[in-house]
Amino acid sequence: MLAAAKVNQFYGGSHTLWDIDLDVPKGGCVCLMGRNGVGKTTLLKVIMGLLPTASGKISFGDIELTGAAPEARARAGIGYVPQGREIFPFLTVEENLLIGRGRKGTHREIPERVLTLFPVLKEMLRRRGGDLSGGQQQQLAMGRALALDPQLLILDEPTEGIQPNVVHEIGEVIIRLVDEGVTVLLVEQKLAFARRIARSFCILDRGKVVAGGEIAELTDEMVRRHLTV
Ligand SMILES: Nc1ncnc2c1ncn2[C@@H]1O[C@H](COP(=O)(O)OP(=O)(O)OP(=O)(O)O)[C@@H](O)[C@H]1O
Ligand SMILES: [Mg+2]
Repeated sequence: MLAAAKVNQFYGGSHTLWDIDLDVPKGGCVCLMGRNGVGKTTLLKVIMGLLPTASGKISFGDIELTGAAPEARARAGIGYVPQGREIFPFLTVEENLLIGRGRKGTHREIPERVLTLFPVLKEMLRRRGGDLSGGQQQQLAMGRALALDPQLLILDEPTEGIQPNVVHEIGEVIIRLVDEGVTVLLVEQKLAFARRIARSFCILDRGKVVAGGEIAELTDEMVRRHLTV
């Protein structure tokens, strides 16, 4: 469904992504892994068009996305939840959830599905985003992306800095979304979490893909070499 082929990216003179190949099959849940600073967020931003692609190709189904604006990628059906969540702290939960939906008529409603997946948001619709806990803000950011009904949901470290019970809830939601047919690409550093929810993995090390496969094929040796600090 989503494919990156031979993607390279630079920050100024610094070569950050090297010939990246990544395949996210329809219905899959792929976990992008790797230590801090190896290029995981950079790759997601290139996929979303938030950073330019120096060379290589990004495609989504039959659509070639290389060079397309971020809005076009969102319209094509890709939802993105950035690292650090980036909700609007001074807008209410309801306003955050409606950002990006149409300005009039039926689109000005929050889809019931979002409130079913995240009941906590339903109780907090009038609260300001900035008043929510980190875990609630993460759920809000996911809800905001899901309100646009994406076919592919991209999540950058959804469990970072969140208390364990909410981490578990977020895992349950991702599993449920995949069961319902949403394709997921996520960056995750918590190994147990990745093993629980992902079907396949891809490891980056210093900007290169160094391992990948079914999640059951993720060995202790790969973890030791590429993931532990
Ligand atoms: N805007 C930027 N300008 C220049 N260099 C950057 C920029 N953003 C990131 N980098 C560098 O590019 C490399 C990859 O960063 P990136 O944020 O993609 O890593 P990451 O794998 O997501 O790390 P983390 O696990 O800490 O989120 C790092 O060396 C980082 O310092
Ligand atoms: Mg990152």
